[in-house]
Amino acid sequence: MSEERIINVLLIEDEVFDVQRVKNTVKQAPYIHILHVVPNGNESLDILKKCPIDVVIMDFQIAGGLQGESLIQAIKTINSQLQIIVITKMTINQTDFKFANSLIEAGAYWFCTKYPGDIEDYIYQPTDFVLSIKNAWEKKKLEEARSLSENRLNKNIQAVLKDKKIIGESLVIQKMIQRIHKFAATQASVLITGASGTGKELVATHIHYKSPRKYEPFVTVNCGGIPSELLESELFGFEKGSFTGAGHSREGLFEQADGGTIFLDEIGELPLNAQSKLLRVLQEGEIDKIGRRKQYKVDVRVIAASNKKLAEQVKKKAFREDLFYRLNVLQIEVPPLAERLDDIPLLVSHFLNIFAGDFLENLPVLTEESIQILKSFHWPGNVRQLQNVVQRILFSYEDEITPETVRIAIGVPEKENHIASFREQFNPANIQMLRDIESHFRREYIQFVRSHSDTDAEAARKLGIAPPNFHRMCKELGIKG
Ligand SMILES: Nc1ncnc2c1ncn2[C@@H]1O[C@H](COP(=O)(O)OP(=O)(O)OP(=O)(O)O)[C@@H](O)[C@H]1O
Ligand SMILES: [Mg+2]
Repeated sequence: MSEERIINVLLIEDEVFDVQRVKNTVKQAPYIHILHVVPNGNESLDILKKCPIDVVIMDFQIAGGLQGESLIQAIKTINSQLQIIVITKMTINQTDFKFANSLIEAGAYWFCTKYPGDIEDYIYQPTDFVLSIKNAWEKKKLEEARSLSENRLNKNIQAVLKDKKIIGESLVIQKMIQRIHKFAATQASVLITGASGTGKELVATHIHYKSPRKYEPFVTVNCGGIPSELLESELFGFEKGSFTGAGHSREGLFEQADGGTIFLDEIGELPLNAQSKLLRVLQEGEIDKIGRRKQYKVDVRVIAASNKKLAEQVKKKAFREDLFYRLNVLQIEVPPLAERLDDIPLLVSHFLNIFAGDFLENLPVLTEESIQILKSFHWPGNVRQLQNVVQRILFSYEDEITPETVRIAIGVPEKENHIASFREQFNPANIQMLRDIESHFRREYIQFVRSHSDTDAEAARKLGIAPPNFHRMCKELGIKG
Protein backbone atom coordinates (compact mmCIF):
# COMPACT_ATOMS: atom_id res chain seq x y z
CA MET A 1 0.00 0.00 0.00
CA SER A 2 1.26 3.45 -0.87
CA GLU A 3 2.23 5.37 2.22
CA GLU A 4 0.47 8.48 0.85
CA ARG A 5 -2.82 6.78 1.38
CA ILE A 6 -4.44 7.53 4.68
CA ILE A 7 -6.83 5.24 6.49
CA ASN A 8 -9.23 7.32 8.52
CA VAL A 9 -10.41 5.49 11.61
CA LEU A 10 -13.18 6.19 14.09
CA LEU A 11 -12.66 4.51 17.45
CA ILE A 12 -15.69 3.77 19.61
CA GLU A 13 -14.30 2.94 23.03
CA ASP A 14 -15.30 4.16 26.47
CA GLU A 15 -12.29 3.00 28.48
CA VAL A 16 -9.37 5.46 28.44
CA PHE A 17 -6.90 2.64 29.09
CA ASP A 18 -8.09 0.73 25.99
CA VAL A 19 -8.10 3.86 23.83
CA GLN A 20 -4.44 4.26 24.67
CA ARG A 21 -3.74 0.60 23.94
CA VAL A 22 -5.38 0.88 20.48
CA LYS A 23 -3.33 3.99 19.73
CA ASN A 24 -0.13 2.22 20.80
CA THR A 25 -0.95 -0.81 18.67
CA VAL A 26 -1.38 1.15 15.42
CA LYS A 27 1.49 3.55 16.08
CA GLN A 28 3.82 1.61 13.79
CA ALA A 29 1.52 2.25 10.83
CA PRO A 30 1.64 6.02 10.33
CA TYR A 31 -0.94 5.88 7.54
CA ILE A 32 -3.60 4.80 10.04
CA HIS A 33 -5.12 8.00 11.44
CA ILE A 34 -7.45 7.72 14.38
CA LEU A 35 -9.50 10.77 13.49
CA HIS A 36 -12.01 10.63 16.32
CA VAL A 37 -12.58 8.73 19.53
CA VAL A 38 -16.12 8.57 20.95
CA PRO A 39 -17.39 6.75 24.04
CA ASN A 40 -20.82 5.66 22.75
CA GLY A 41 -22.84 4.56 19.74
CA ASN A 42 -25.00 7.64 19.23
CA GLU A 43 -22.02 9.98 19.11
CA SER A 44 -20.33 7.69 16.60
CA LEU A 45 -23.30 8.01 14.23
CA ASP A 46 -23.12 11.82 14.40
CA ILE A 47 -19.43 11.72 13.48
CA LEU A 48 -19.97 9.22 10.65
CA LYS A 49 -22.60 11.47 9.07
CA LYS A 50 -20.09 14.33 8.97
CA CYS A 51 -16.60 12.87 8.54
CA PRO A 52 -14.92 10.80 5.83
CA ILE A 53 -14.23 7.63 7.83
CA ASP A 54 -12.92 4.41 6.23
CA VAL A 55 -12.80 1.98 9.12
CA VAL A 56 -14.64 1.88 12.44
CA ILE A 57 -13.05 0.09 15.40
CA MET A 58 -15.71 -0.51 18.01
CA ASP A 59 -15.66 -2.02 21.44
CA PHE A 60 -18.46 -4.54 21.84
CA GLN A 61 -19.44 -3.47 25.35
CA ILE A 62 -19.85 0.26 25.60
CA ALA A 63 -21.99 2.62 27.61
CA GLY A 64 -25.30 3.85 26.20
CA GLY A 65 -28.13 1.84 24.71
CA LEU A 66 -26.83 1.57 21.17
CA GLN A 67 -24.21 -1.18 20.95
CA GLY A 68 -23.36 -4.57 19.45
CA GLU A 69 -25.30 -5.75 16.40
CA SER A 70 -27.71 -2.80 16.46
CA LEU A 71 -24.81 -0.36 16.32
CA ILE A 72 -23.16 -2.31 13.46
CA GLN A 73 -26.42 -2.18 11.50
CA ALA A 74 -26.91 1.52 12.20
CA ILE A 75 -23.37 2.26 10.94
CA LYS A 76 -23.92 0.19 7.80
CA THR A 77 -27.14 2.10 7.10
CA ILE A 78 -25.18 5.35 7.04
CA ASN A 79 -22.68 3.94 4.56
CA SER A 80 -22.75 0.28 3.62
CA GLN A 81 -19.15 0.45 2.38
CA LEU A 82 -17.75 1.43 5.79
CA GLN A 83 -15.84 -1.47 7.37
CA ILE A 84 -16.17 -2.32 11.05
CA ILE A 85 -13.73 -4.16 13.30
CA VAL A 86 -15.19 -5.27 16.63
CA ILE A 87 -12.97 -5.71 19.69
CA THR A 88 -14.25 -7.44 22.81
CA LYS A 89 -12.94 -8.29 26.25
CA MET A 90 -11.13 -11.60 26.33
CA THR A 91 -13.54 -12.90 28.92
CA ILE A 92 -16.56 -12.53 26.67
CA ASN A 93 -17.49 -15.35 24.37
CA GLN A 94 -14.00 -15.61 23.01
CA THR A 95 -14.44 -19.13 21.71
CA ASP A 96 -18.09 -18.87 20.82
CA PHE A 97 -18.31 -19.17 17.05
CA LYS A 98 -22.01 -18.30 17.04
CA PHE A 99 -21.24 -15.01 18.75
CA ALA A 100 -18.49 -14.05 16.28
CA ASN A 101 -20.67 -15.10 13.39
CA SER A 102 -23.61 -13.02 14.56
CA LEU A 103 -21.35 -9.94 14.45
CA ILE A 104 -20.17 -10.76 10.94
CA GLU A 105 -23.75 -11.36 9.83
CA ALA A 106 -24.80 -8.03 11.26
CA GLY A 107 -22.22 -6.48 8.90
CA ALA A 108 -18.91 -6.40 10.79
CA TYR A 109 -15.75 -7.05 8.78
CA TRP A 110 -13.57 -8.49 11.53
CA PHE A 111 -13.70 -9.52 15.17
CA CYS A 112 -10.87 -9.85 17.70
CA THR A 113 -10.46 -10.24 21.45
CA LYS A 114 -8.55 -7.69 23.49
CA TYR A 115 -5.38 -8.68 25.34
CA PRO A 116 -5.80 -8.90 29.14
CA GLY A 117 -5.37 -5.64 31.08
CA ASP A 118 -1.88 -6.50 32.31
CA ILE A 119 -0.54 -6.09 28.77
CA GLU A 120 -0.36 -2.32 28.69
CA ASP A 121 1.26 -1.60 25.32
CA TYR A 122 -1.04 -3.37 22.94
CA ILE A 123 -4.73 -4.13 22.65
CA TYR A 124 -4.08 -7.08 20.30
CA GLN A 125 -1.27 -8.70 18.38
CA PRO A 126 -0.03 -5.54 16.57
CA THR A 127 0.73 -6.97 13.11
CA ASP A 128 -2.61 -8.80 12.98
CA PHE A 129 -4.43 -5.69 14.09
CA VAL A 130 -2.75 -3.41 11.55
CA LEU A 131 -3.26 -5.96 8.77
CA SER A 132 -6.95 -6.26 9.62
CA ILE A 133 -7.32 -2.49 9.37
CA LYS A 134 -5.47 -2.46 6.03
CA ASN A 135 -7.59 -5.30 4.67
CA ALA A 136 -10.76 -3.59 5.85
CA TRP A 137 -9.66 -0.48 3.99
CA GLU A 138 -8.93 -2.55 0.82
CA LYS A 139 -12.38 -4.09 1.08
CA LYS A 140 -13.95 -0.66 1.31
CA LYS A 141 -12.09 0.43 -1.84
CA LEU A 142 -13.20 -2.72 -3.68
CA GLU A 143 -16.79 -2.23 -2.64
CA GLU A 144 -16.66 1.38 -3.76
CA ALA A 145 -15.25 0.36 -7.15
CA ARG A 146 -17.87 -2.36 -7.55
CA SER A 147 -20.66 -0.01 -6.66
CA LEU A 148 -19.32 2.54 -9.15
CA SER A 149 -19.26 0.01 -11.98
CA GLU A 150 -22.68 -1.32 -10.98
CA ASN A 151 -24.01 2.22 -11.12
CA ARG A 152 -22.52 2.61 -14.57
CA LEU A 153 -24.02 -0.70 -15.71
CA ASN A 154 -27.35 0.26 -14.19
CA LYS A 155 -27.26 3.49 -16.15
CA ASN A 156 -26.61 1.53 -19.35
CA ILE A 157 -29.45 -0.84 -18.52
CA GLN A 158 -31.77 2.09 -17.85
CA ALA A 159 -30.73 3.55 -21.22
CA VAL A 160 -31.54 0.26 -23.02
CA LEU A 161 -34.90 -0.01 -21.29
CA LYS A 162 -35.71 3.61 -22.07
CA ASP A 163 -34.74 3.12 -25.70
CA LYS A 164 -36.86 -0.01 -25.88
CA LYS A 165 -39.75 1.25 -23.79
CA ILE A 166 -42.97 -0.72 -24.11
CA ILE A 167 -45.61 1.86 -24.88
CA GLY A 168 -49.26 1.16 -24.11
CA GLU A 169 -51.84 1.74 -21.43
CA SER A 170 -54.42 -0.75 -22.69
CA LEU A 171 -55.36 -3.48 -20.27
CA VAL A 172 -53.80 -6.21 -22.44
CA ILE A 173 -50.44 -4.43 -22.51
CA GLN A 174 -50.51 -3.58 -18.81
CA LYS A 175 -51.19 -7.24 -18.02
CA MET A 176 -48.35 -8.24 -20.31
CA ILE A 177 -45.98 -5.83 -18.54
CA GLN A 178 -47.00 -7.33 -15.19
CA ARG A 179 -46.17 -10.79 -16.50
CA ILE A 180 -42.79 -9.55 -17.72
CA HIS A 181 -41.97 -8.33 -14.19
CA LYS A 182 -43.16 -11.56 -12.61
CA PHE A 183 -41.29 -13.80 -15.05
CA ALA A 184 -38.13 -11.68 -14.96
CA ALA A 185 -37.60 -12.62 -11.32
CA THR A 186 -37.54 -16.36 -12.13
CA GLN A 187 -35.03 -18.57 -13.94
CA ALA A 188 -37.62 -20.48 -15.99
CA SER A 189 -37.71 -20.62 -19.78
CA VAL A 190 -40.16 -18.28 -21.43
CA LEU A 191 -41.89 -18.73 -24.77
CA ILE A 192 -43.05 -15.49 -26.38
CA THR A 193 -45.64 -15.85 -29.10
CA GLY A 194 -47.37 -13.26 -31.25
CA ALA A 195 -47.70 -12.14 -34.84
CA SER A 196 -44.93 -10.39 -36.69
CA GLY A 197 -44.15 -6.86 -35.49
CA THR A 198 -46.09 -7.12 -32.23
CA GLY A 199 -43.02 -6.53 -30.05
CA LYS A 200 -41.69 -9.99 -29.12
CA GLU A 201 -38.07 -8.91 -29.17
CA LEU A 202 -38.94 -5.95 -26.98
CA VAL A 203 -40.52 -8.29 -24.45
CA ALA A 204 -37.47 -10.59 -24.41
CA THR A 205 -35.17 -7.60 -23.85
CA HIS A 206 -37.26 -6.43 -20.90
CA ILE A 207 -37.31 -9.87 -19.28
CA HIS A 208 -33.52 -10.06 -19.41
CA TYR A 209 -32.74 -6.53 -18.25
CA LYS A 210 -35.21 -6.76 -15.38
CA SER A 211 -33.90 -10.14 -14.22
CA PRO A 212 -31.12 -10.90 -11.74
CA ARG A 213 -29.02 -11.78 -14.83
CA LYS A 214 -29.17 -8.19 -16.08
CA TYR A 215 -25.42 -7.55 -15.70
CA GLU A 216 -24.61 -10.71 -17.67
CA PRO A 217 -24.75 -11.14 -21.47
CA PHE A 218 -27.97 -11.04 -23.48
CA VAL A 219 -27.36 -12.92 -26.71
CA THR A 220 -29.92 -12.86 -29.51
CA VAL A 221 -29.99 -15.59 -32.14
CA ASN A 222 -32.21 -15.47 -35.19
CA CYS A 223 -32.73 -19.20 -35.73
CA GLY A 224 -34.23 -18.60 -39.17
CA GLY A 225 -31.34 -16.42 -40.26
CA ILE A 226 -28.50 -18.93 -39.88
CA PRO A 227 -28.16 -21.63 -42.55
CA SER A 228 -29.11 -24.97 -40.97
CA GLU A 229 -25.69 -26.52 -41.68
CA LEU A 230 -24.01 -23.74 -39.66
CA LEU A 231 -26.56 -23.49 -36.89
CA GLU A 232 -25.13 -26.16 -34.61
CA SER A 233 -21.62 -24.77 -34.69
CA GLU A 234 -22.95 -21.23 -34.20
CA LEU A 235 -24.99 -22.25 -31.16
CA PHE A 236 -22.67 -24.75 -29.53
CA GLY A 237 -19.23 -23.99 -30.99
CA PHE A 238 -16.57 -26.46 -32.09
CA GLU A 239 -13.11 -27.68 -31.14
CA LYS A 240 -10.05 -27.19 -33.29
CA GLY A 241 -9.63 -30.08 -35.74
CA SER A 242 -13.13 -31.49 -35.15
CA PHE A 243 -13.86 -31.32 -38.88
CA THR A 244 -12.01 -30.36 -42.03
CA GLY A 245 -11.50 -26.65 -41.99
CA ALA A 246 -11.84 -26.28 -38.20
CA GLY A 247 -8.43 -24.61 -37.90
CA HIS A 248 -9.26 -23.12 -34.54
CA SER A 249 -11.75 -23.69 -31.74
CA ARG A 250 -14.79 -21.51 -31.64
CA GLU A 251 -17.00 -20.40 -28.82
CA GLY A 252 -20.68 -21.00 -29.48
CA LEU A 253 -23.44 -18.52 -28.68
CA PHE A 254 -24.46 -20.57 -25.63
CA GLU A 255 -20.97 -20.15 -24.19
CA GLN A 256 -21.10 -16.44 -24.93
CA ALA A 257 -24.37 -16.23 -23.04
CA ASP A 258 -23.03 -18.14 -20.01
CA GLY A 259 -24.41 -16.60 -16.83
CA GLY A 260 -26.92 -14.58 -18.83
CA THR A 261 -29.80 -15.09 -21.23
CA ILE A 262 -30.01 -16.40 -24.77
CA PHE A 263 -32.91 -15.22 -26.89
CA LEU A 264 -33.79 -17.77 -29.56
CA ASP A 265 -35.85 -15.79 -32.01
CA GLU A 266 -37.94 -17.60 -34.63
CA ILE A 267 -37.42 -20.84 -32.74
CA GLY A 268 -39.92 -22.55 -35.09
CA GLU A 269 -37.23 -22.43 -37.78
CA LEU A 270 -34.78 -24.54 -35.76
CA PRO A 271 -33.92 -27.78 -37.62
CA LEU A 272 -34.72 -31.05 -35.83
CA ASN A 273 -31.11 -32.06 -35.12
CA ALA A 274 -30.40 -28.72 -33.47
CA GLN A 275 -33.63 -29.15 -31.52
CA SER A 276 -32.29 -32.32 -29.85
CA LYS A 277 -29.08 -30.56 -28.86
CA LEU A 278 -30.99 -27.62 -27.48
CA LEU A 279 -33.12 -30.00 -25.44
CA ARG A 280 -29.95 -31.41 -23.89
CA VAL A 281 -28.77 -27.94 -22.89
CA LEU A 282 -32.13 -27.27 -21.28
CA GLN A 283 -32.25 -30.61 -19.48
CA GLU A 284 -28.66 -31.04 -18.37
CA GLY A 285 -27.18 -27.55 -18.77
CA GLU A 286 -24.56 -29.27 -20.95
CA ILE A 287 -23.35 -28.25 -24.37
CA ASP A 288 -22.58 -30.75 -27.10
CA LYS A 289 -19.65 -28.88 -28.54
CA ILE A 290 -18.65 -30.37 -31.85
CA GLY A 291 -15.49 -32.45 -31.39
CA ARG A 292 -15.44 -32.23 -27.58
CA ARG A 293 -15.74 -35.39 -25.55
CA LYS A 294 -15.83 -33.86 -22.10
CA GLN A 295 -19.03 -32.33 -20.83
CA TYR A 296 -19.23 -28.59 -20.94
CA LYS A 297 -21.61 -27.00 -18.47
CA VAL A 298 -23.28 -23.66 -19.02
CA ASP A 299 -25.76 -21.64 -17.02
CA VAL A 300 -28.00 -19.94 -19.54
CA ARG A 301 -31.60 -18.85 -19.29
CA VAL A 302 -33.53 -19.43 -22.48
CA ILE A 303 -36.17 -17.12 -23.89
CA ALA A 304 -37.64 -18.22 -27.21
CA ALA A 305 -40.00 -16.46 -29.59
CA SER A 306 -42.10 -17.62 -32.45
CA ASN A 307 -44.72 -16.14 -34.70
CA LYS A 308 -45.66 -19.62 -35.80
CA LYS A 309 -48.09 -21.62 -33.73
CA LEU A 310 -45.56 -24.02 -32.20
CA ALA A 311 -48.24 -26.40 -30.94
CA GLU A 312 -49.31 -26.92 -34.54
CA GLN A 313 -45.71 -27.49 -35.57
CA VAL A 314 -45.58 -30.17 -32.88
CA LYS A 315 -48.64 -31.87 -34.36
CA LYS A 316 -46.97 -31.80 -37.78
CA LYS A 317 -43.85 -33.35 -36.18
CA ALA A 318 -41.82 -30.37 -37.34
CA PHE A 319 -41.08 -29.42 -33.74
CA ARG A 320 -40.14 -31.77 -30.89
CA GLU A 321 -42.88 -32.07 -28.34
CA ASP A 322 -40.50 -32.47 -25.38
CA LEU A 323 -38.61 -29.34 -26.42
CA PHE A 324 -41.86 -27.46 -26.80
CA TYR A 325 -42.79 -28.24 -23.17
CA ARG A 326 -39.32 -27.32 -21.94
CA LEU A 327 -39.51 -23.93 -23.65
CA ASN A 328 -43.13 -23.28 -22.83
CA VAL A 329 -42.74 -23.23 -19.03
CA LEU A 330 -43.85 -19.61 -18.89
CA GLN A 331 -45.71 -18.04 -21.74
CA ILE A 332 -46.28 -14.52 -22.97
CA GLU A 333 -48.64 -13.91 -25.84
CA VAL A 334 -48.07 -10.47 -27.33
CA PRO A 335 -51.46 -9.21 -28.53
CA PRO A 336 -51.86 -7.94 -32.09
CA LEU A 337 -52.16 -4.17 -32.46
CA ALA A 338 -55.76 -4.63 -33.63
CA GLU A 339 -56.60 -5.73 -30.06
CA ARG A 340 -55.17 -2.55 -28.52
CA LEU A 341 -56.22 0.20 -30.92
CA ASP A 342 -56.60 2.64 -28.03
CA ASP A 343 -52.82 2.60 -27.64
CA ILE A 344 -52.39 4.06 -31.13
CA PRO A 345 -52.26 7.77 -30.08
CA LEU A 346 -49.53 7.00 -27.52
CA LEU A 347 -47.57 4.86 -29.97
CA VAL A 348 -47.85 7.51 -32.67
CA SER A 349 -46.52 10.27 -30.45
CA HIS A 350 -43.76 7.95 -29.25
CA PHE A 351 -42.64 7.27 -32.83
CA LEU A 352 -43.03 10.94 -33.83
CA ASN A 353 -40.70 11.77 -30.97
CA ILE A 354 -38.17 9.18 -32.05
CA PHE A 355 -38.15 10.07 -35.74
CA ALA A 356 -38.68 13.82 -35.60
CA GLY A 357 -37.62 14.72 -32.08
CA ASP A 358 -34.07 15.54 -33.12
CA PHE A 359 -34.72 17.73 -36.11
CA LEU A 360 -38.16 19.30 -35.69
CA GLU A 361 -38.70 21.96 -33.08
CA ASN A 362 -42.44 21.53 -32.93
CA LEU A 363 -43.67 18.02 -33.32
CA PRO A 364 -46.62 17.76 -35.70
CA VAL A 365 -49.93 16.88 -34.09
CA LEU A 366 -52.43 14.48 -35.55
CA THR A 367 -56.05 15.59 -35.67
CA GLU A 368 -58.78 13.49 -34.12
CA GLU A 369 -59.89 12.51 -37.61
CA SER A 370 -56.39 11.27 -38.51
CA ILE A 371 -56.25 9.23 -35.30
CA GLN A 372 -59.62 7.72 -36.15
CA ILE A 373 -58.31 6.68 -39.56
CA LEU A 374 -55.34 4.96 -37.90
CA LYS A 375 -57.64 3.31 -35.38
CA SER A 376 -59.93 1.93 -38.04
CA PHE A 377 -57.12 0.13 -39.87
CA HIS A 378 -56.54 -3.59 -39.17
CA TRP A 379 -52.71 -3.47 -38.90
CA PRO A 380 -51.62 -6.86 -40.20
CA GLY A 381 -47.98 -5.82 -39.67
CA ASN A 382 -48.75 -4.63 -36.12
CA VAL A 383 -46.59 -2.08 -34.28
CA ARG A 384 -43.78 -2.30 -36.82
CA GLN A 385 -46.20 -1.35 -39.56
CA LEU A 386 -47.50 1.59 -37.50
CA GLN A 387 -43.91 2.67 -36.98
CA ASN A 388 -43.34 2.64 -40.75
CA VAL A 389 -46.55 4.55 -41.38
CA VAL A 390 -45.52 7.29 -38.94
CA GLN A 391 -42.18 7.52 -40.72
CA ARG A 392 -43.94 7.82 -44.07
CA ILE A 393 -46.23 10.53 -42.69
CA LEU A 394 -43.22 12.53 -41.55
CA PHE A 395 -41.64 12.30 -44.96
CA SER A 396 -44.72 13.36 -46.84
CA TYR A 397 -46.60 15.99 -44.82
CA GLU A 398 -46.22 19.68 -45.57
CA ASP A 399 -47.68 22.25 -43.20
CA GLU A 400 -49.98 19.95 -41.34
CA ILE A 401 -50.81 16.30 -41.24
CA THR A 402 -54.10 16.00 -43.08
CA PRO A 403 -56.32 12.92 -42.97
CA GLU A 404 -55.38 12.50 -46.61
CA THR A 405 -51.65 12.29 -45.70
CA VAL A 406 -52.51 9.58 -43.21
CA ARG A 407 -54.67 7.63 -45.66
CA ILE A 408 -51.93 7.72 -48.23
CA ALA A 409 -49.30 6.68 -45.68
CA ILE A 410 -51.33 3.65 -44.69
CA GLY A 411 -52.76 2.73 -47.99
CA VAL A 412 -50.40 3.52 -50.83
CA PRO A 413 -51.02 0.49 -52.93
CA GLU A 414 -47.56 -0.93 -52.67
CA LYS A 415 -47.91 -2.82 -55.93
CA GLU A 416 -48.47 0.31 -57.98
CA ASN A 417 -45.64 2.00 -56.24
CA HIS A 418 -43.24 -0.78 -57.07
CA ILE A 419 -44.36 -0.95 -60.68
CA ALA A 420 -43.98 2.81 -61.07
CA SER A 421 -40.48 2.76 -59.67
CA PHE A 422 -39.62 -0.21 -61.84
CA ARG A 423 -40.86 1.55 -65.02
CA GLU A 424 -38.66 4.52 -64.24
CA GLN A 425 -35.67 2.30 -64.81
CA PHE A 426 -36.52 1.95 -68.53
CA ASN A 427 -34.78 5.19 -69.30
CA PRO A 428 -32.62 5.44 -72.44
CA ALA A 429 -30.62 8.21 -70.78
CA ASN A 430 -29.74 5.98 -67.83
CA ILE A 431 -29.01 2.46 -68.98
CA GLN A 432 -27.57 0.40 -66.14
CA MET A 433 -25.48 -2.73 -65.83
CA LEU A 434 -27.61 -5.85 -65.82
CA ARG A 435 -26.14 -6.83 -62.44
CA ASP A 436 -27.28 -3.54 -60.85
CA ILE A 437 -30.74 -3.54 -62.32
CA GLU A 438 -31.17 -7.16 -61.29
CA SER A 439 -30.35 -6.48 -57.68
CA HIS A 440 -32.56 -3.41 -57.76
CA PHE A 441 -35.43 -5.56 -58.98
CA ARG A 442 -34.71 -8.28 -56.42
CA ARG A 443 -34.67 -5.76 -53.62
CA GLU A 444 -37.96 -4.15 -54.68
CA TYR A 445 -39.67 -7.44 -55.31
CA ILE A 446 -38.57 -9.07 -52.07
CA GLN A 447 -39.71 -6.02 -50.13
CA PHE A 448 -43.03 -6.15 -51.94
CA VAL A 449 -43.56 -9.86 -51.18
CA ARG A 450 -42.46 -9.30 -47.58
CA SER A 451 -44.98 -6.54 -47.09
CA HIS A 452 -47.66 -8.97 -48.19
CA SER A 453 -46.59 -11.79 -45.87
CA ASP A 454 -47.07 -12.26 -42.16
CA THR A 455 -43.64 -13.77 -41.60
CA ASP A 456 -40.31 -13.96 -43.37
CA ALA A 457 -40.72 -17.71 -43.59
CA GLU A 458 -43.97 -17.17 -45.47
CA ALA A 459 -42.32 -14.67 -47.83
CA ALA A 460 -39.49 -17.15 -48.46
CA ARG A 461 -42.02 -19.89 -49.20
CA LYS A 462 -43.95 -17.69 -51.66
CA LEU A 463 -40.69 -16.89 -53.43
CA GLY A 464 -39.67 -20.53 -53.46
CA ILE A 465 -36.47 -19.88 -51.48
CA ALA A 466 -35.25 -21.75 -48.38
CA PRO A 467 -35.50 -19.41 -45.33
CA PRO A 468 -31.73 -19.27 -44.67
CA ASN A 469 -31.09 -18.36 -48.31
CA PHE A 470 -33.83 -15.78 -48.08
CA HIS A 471 -32.19 -14.20 -45.04
CA ARG A 472 -28.79 -14.22 -46.70
CA MET A 473 -30.25 -12.62 -49.82
CA CYS A 474 -31.98 -9.93 -47.74
CA LYS A 475 -28.70 -9.19 -46.01
CA GLU A 476 -26.80 -8.96 -49.28
CA LEU A 477 -29.43 -6.65 -50.73
CA GLY A 478 -29.38 -4.44 -47.66
CA ILE A 479 -32.97 -5.23 -46.66
CA LYS A 480 -33.33 -4.70 -42.93
CA GLY A 481 -34.48 -7.63 -40.76
N1 LIG B 1 -45.40 -1.57 -27.30
C1 LIG B 1 -44.44 -1.02 -28.04
N2 LIG B 1 -43.96 0.19 -27.72
C2 LIG B 1 -42.98 0.77 -28.46
N3 LIG B 1 -42.43 0.21 -29.53
C3 LIG B 1 -42.85 -1.00 -29.90
C4 LIG B 1 -43.86 -1.70 -29.16
N4 LIG B 1 -44.06 -2.89 -29.75
C5 LIG B 1 -43.22 -2.95 -30.79
N5 LIG B 1 -42.49 -1.83 -30.89
C6 LIG B 1 -41.49 -1.51 -31.93
O1 LIG B 1 -41.93 -2.14 -33.13
C7 LIG B 1 -40.87 -2.77 -33.81
C8 LIG B 1 -41.13 -4.27 -33.91
O2 LIG B 1 -41.01 -4.86 -32.62
P1 LIG B 1 -40.25 -6.26 -32.43
O3 LIG B 1 -39.06 -6.34 -33.31
O4 LIG B 1 -40.05 -6.45 -30.97
O5 LIG B 1 -41.40 -7.23 -32.96
P2 LIG B 1 -41.39 -8.80 -33.19
O6 LIG B 1 -42.65 -9.32 -32.62
O7 LIG B 1 -40.12 -9.35 -32.68
O8 LIG B 1 -41.45 -8.90 -34.76
P3 LIG B 1 -41.01 -10.14 -35.74
O9 LIG B 1 -41.92 -11.27 -35.48
O10 LIG B 1 -41.18 -9.58 -37.09
O11 LIG B 1 -39.58 -10.43 -35.39
C9 LIG B 1 -39.61 -2.45 -33.02
O12 LIG B 1 -39.00 -1.32 -33.59
C10 LIG B 1 -40.13 -2.13 -31.64
O13 LIG B 1 -39.28 -1.25 -30.97
MG1 LIG C 1 -38.58 -10.33 -33.73
